[in-house]
Parts: sequence; structure tokens; C-alpha cells
Amino acid sequence: MCGIVGIVGNKEVAPFLLSALKRLEYRGYDSAGIAALNNGKIEYCRSKGKISALKDKVAQYPVAGTVGIAHTRWATHGVPSEANAHPQFSDTVALVHNGIIENYEALKAEFSAKGYNFTSETDTEVIVALITFNLKEGLKPKEAVYQSIQRLEGSFAIEVLFDGYPDMIIGARRGSPLAVGYGDDEMFIGSDALALAEFTTKISYLEDGDLVVLHKDKVEFFDEKGNPVQREIVANHASSFTIEKGEFRHFMIKEIFEQPKAIEDTFCSVYDKETGLINSANIPFDLTKVSRVAIIACGTSLHAAMVAKYWIETYAKVPVDIDSSSEFRYRNPVLDKDTLAVFVSQSGETADTLAALRYCKKHGIKTLGMVNVPASTIAREADCILQTMAGPEVSVAATKAFTTQLVLFAALALALAEKRETLPLPEIKKMAKMLLDIPSIMQDFLKETESIDKIAKDIVKDAVNALYIGRGSSYPIALEGALKLKETSYIHAEGYSAGEMKHGPIALVDQGLPIIVVAPFDKYFEKTFSNMQEIVARGGKVIFVSNKKGIAAAIKHITASIAMPDVNTFVAPILYSLPMQILAYYTALAKGTDMDQPRNLAKSVTVE
Ligand code: M6R
Repeated sequence: MCGIVGIVGNKEVAPFLLSALKRLEYRGYDSAGIAALNNGKIEYCRSKGKISALKDKVAQYPVAGTVGIAHTRWATHGVPSEANAHPQFSDTVALVHNGIIENYEALKAEFSAKGYNFTSETDTEVIVALITFNLKEGLKPKEAVYQSIQRLEGSFAIEVLFDGYPDMIIGARRGSPLAVGYGDDEMFIGSDALALAEFTTKISYLEDGDLVVLHKDKVEFFDEKGNPVQREIVANHASSFTIEKGEFRHFMIKEIFEQPKAIEDTFCSVYDKETGLINSANIPFDLTKVSRVAIIACGTSLHAAMVAKYWIETYAKVPVDIDSSSEFRYRNPVLDKDTLAVFVSQSGETADTLAALRYCKKHGIKTLGMVNVPASTIAREADCILQTMAGPEVSVAATKAFTTQLVLFAALALALAEKRETLPLPEIKKMAKMLLDIPSIMQDFLKETESIDKIAKDIVKDAVNALYIGRGSSYPIALEGALKLKETSYIHAEGYSAGEMKHGPIALVDQGLPIIVVAPFDKYFEKTFSNMQEIVARGGKVIFVSNKKGIAAAIKHITASIAMPDVNTFVAPILYSLPMQILAYYTALAKGTDMDQPRNLAKSVTVE
């Protein structure tokens, strides 16, 4: 989604703004722009497309000044175009915005009637109109912004430059995140810690409703009532991370290969070596009293939640409800006080997941955030967090975030099983050890990916559609495989539980349809095997993902296979995620699509 950054500095800001935009690229965008104050006068440059296009344009039409703001736009209102790119501006202000103004049509009508000349199709421009009018009414910048945001419905993080105020940026947020960074005689403001990482290691997060006034030597915060407040300064851990591709061609494949380490770091953060059990000290609730677990998430994180349902119900005997965040609060969920609500989000900023968290908190439900970004809004607002130790995930296609979420859920299932005495301790220790062994098994698997590359080129690349099927905990893995393929290669792909095939999808089977069958050699194998035969009988091209035994049984029916290591059913979903990711990656590579930043998608979905 949109990314924003601003600098009140003491040197020319344009190069720094452009490099900060580069760091924000991972969020997904379709246009970008910068503005600066040159001797108190606003100068700007905007461009459709990649940051490189904006950079070229700035080289041609320089933007001078030591105070500036910048933006990457992911279109919500109005097509991606230069006119709709941010900064949006009037004769007195330039403004960048992340979020959605829900009442923009009413405001646009109101200000059009007052003679304001709108030049874009964006919702953002109404904020510019509001502030401009308030300034004309004689309000000072801070008051003009404060009064303007009172009229807004929806979500926003904004940064504003004012003509005639050469040393100031005003920022404000509601719903969308915003952070301030402290430098030496310069200050920064941006949508997340990563945006500020190259500038400073000291940051403060704005609370919801806050307004902030930045000068190069001071920062003043005001709460939603307009009262001056202090916001804690914390270390910006994002500073130490590099977001380079290193020896890899793409972030997606780099992040796939980072999984052994990410999983090891994640599991070790909850594994107690002394006891061989899971350390659940981070969860301040009595796990014996949890009557139900509700897991709420979107996209890939939702698929992790679906696997967790199998684990928690099987091993800890606690009922689990799964909800897509965008549906959860609108379906009037029945929740009791002993429910533990878990919100899963790599970014920790997904608007629907955050709204679901707030809904639960309002209803007095215990909340646990499972996030990859510890400084994110979900992390800060949940009662407690479990952190996936995946490090920054840049590729829009989630990979290491998913498998580390699976590891934390597996650990949570074991912690619940221990506290509720639903499994004997030696069994729990044995299962914990299986999780401990995953990184090295993964490492070995990742040494041999050529056969998957060949399948991608020979079978999947030219397909128009693809199906993924699986049973039990392999069903969510099939869903995840289909999601990975569609988002990275634009091939229409669907995931089904294998048993559903006969209820409709089998009508799609013909010789052009690759069907990826996720079939660990477990208690579901025979049934999935039968479903595979039914597909083959109708001419479908089966790519069979199983261990050696499973493949040997299937070999005469199938078109191709992906051989998996022999692992226990418990940890199979974690390992079987790998071929799903790798097949999607190689297919996208063969098709030449931009798998790191697929069209229309954003890394962090901060609007509903
Ligand atoms: O940051 P989150 O985990 O809350 O994001 C949820 C989804 O937007 C995300 O998983 C999305 O589905 C990925 N692009 C899938 O690869």
C-alpha cells in the first residue's frame, strides 16, 4: 500500500527521499512523487510507474530544498496516473496520504460548491481542500490540520508541507501507521520503521489520532484532543537489516532460501532447551482455561491459521474457529470471555486484521498477535505477541512469513497440549524435537530444486488454469500453493480439499489442466490417491507431491512428481509448503512476471 516519508533536514532532501522511496517499494505501488520547500516555496515532481521513472524525471526537473515529503501510491480512488499521484497540492500546501477517506464524495461536493478546483480523482485531495480552506480562514498550520482531520471519516496517515513555512512538516494519523525518527539537527517521518531505517535508530510511533509537528531541532506531539503529549522513543531495530537481494535474482527466492534460518530463529525463541518443552511465558493467560481459540487473518496468514486448526484441535483438543479478517466483525461473532483470539499478520498492519483485533478488545476478549514486525500496530495493541523471527519480508508473495507462522502455531498447539494434559510429556518433547529438526531437513530439500524448475517450464507455465488439492492439514497447503501461483504468475489457480473434487471442480479436468496433488504419506494418503486416479482417468495432468513411497505407488498414473523427505504428519505442512512456493517462483520466472511486486498487489494492506 502507499508508503510515505518526510525529512526536515539541513541538506538537499531529494536524493534521500528517493532512496527512502526505494526502501518502501516492497509495499507495492503504481506511481510516486516528492515535494520540497525551496526557500519556503513548494516544488514537486510526480510520475506514474517505478521509482526509477521518478528518479529520471527528478534528474530532468530537480526538486530543491532541505525539507520534503515523498510517497509511493497504490491506487484506490482514481487510476494510476501522474495527476492522481501524490503529493496532492494547492497553492498553499502539499500533502501525501496513506489510507482511504470514506466521506470524500460528500467533502468533494461541499468544497466544489465553495469553488475549490479539484485536479485529481483521488480521495486525498479533499484533505488538501480542507486544510487550504482552514488556512484561508486564518488558522495557523497546526490548527488547520487539526480542524481538517476532525472532518475525515476513514483511515489516514498524512504529511503536509506549507508554503511559507520553510522548516516544518505536520503529520497526523488515524488507522494507518506513522512514525517519527530523530536525527542530529534533522527529523524524519515515515510509514514504518523500515522507511526510516537508513536515517536513524531512534523512533517514536504516533498513537491513533495523534498529530505531530516536526522542525529540524524539535518534535511536538498532540493527542486526538489536541493536548500536547510525549511519545516514547524506542530503538529502530529495522536499522540493522539490509534489504538487498545478495546473490539471488529476486527477493522471493532469497526469502524461500532464508527459511531454514528463519524457522530455527523462530522455534528457538519459544523452545526451552532445558525441559525440551515450549516456553509459553509470553502468553500471560491461563491456557488451561481457554475454552476456544479464534484465529483471524487474511491471505497467506489465514492459510497458516487453517493448518493451526488441525494441530490445536488434534493435539490440544480445544475447538478452533477460523475467520477471514474482513468477514469477522461483520458477522456478529459469538465470543465468550474464555476465548483466546489470535491475530496473524506478517506486517502487523493489515487493516481488517487490526479492526478485528480492536473489535475483540472492545468485547473484552483475550488477544494474542502473531506478527513478524514487532513494532507494528497489531503488536502494540494486542495483549501479548508471539513474534515470527523471519526478518524483513520484501517480496509481496509471503514465504518465510508463512512457514514461521506455522512453526509458532505448532509450538502453541504443543504448549496448549502440555498445559491441558492432552498429550503425554514424552510425546510433546518428541514433537518439539521434530520442529527443531526442520531447518536441516529444509536445507537439504533446497539443494535440489531443478526438477521443480523443469515442471514449472514444461507443465505449468503455459497453463491457463491450475488446481491444487489436498486433505487434512495438506488442504490449506493446497490453498496456499494456489494463492502463490496466481499472485506471482497470474495463472488462475484454485485450491480444494481433495474430497470436494467430485462436487464440482472435476468438471474442469481436461488435458490442459495441471493438478498439483499434495499427498504426504499419512492417514489421508489412500483417499487422496483415489481422487488422483479419478483425475487421471479424465485426462488431467497430475503433479504428485509426496514421499518416495507415495510417488512409487502413483508413478504409473502421474505426469510428474516432487519427492519430499520422509517426515511425520505433524510437521509435513511446514515442509510441503516449500514445493508450493518454489513451483510458483519458477513458473513466474518462466513467464517473466514480476513475482516480487505482482501487478495490483501491495505487501501491506492498510486499507479495508
Ligand atoms: O501482513 P499480513 O500477513 O496481514 O498480510 C496478509 C495478506 O495480505 C498476505 O498474506 C497476502 O495474501 C500475501 N501477498 C500472500 O502471498
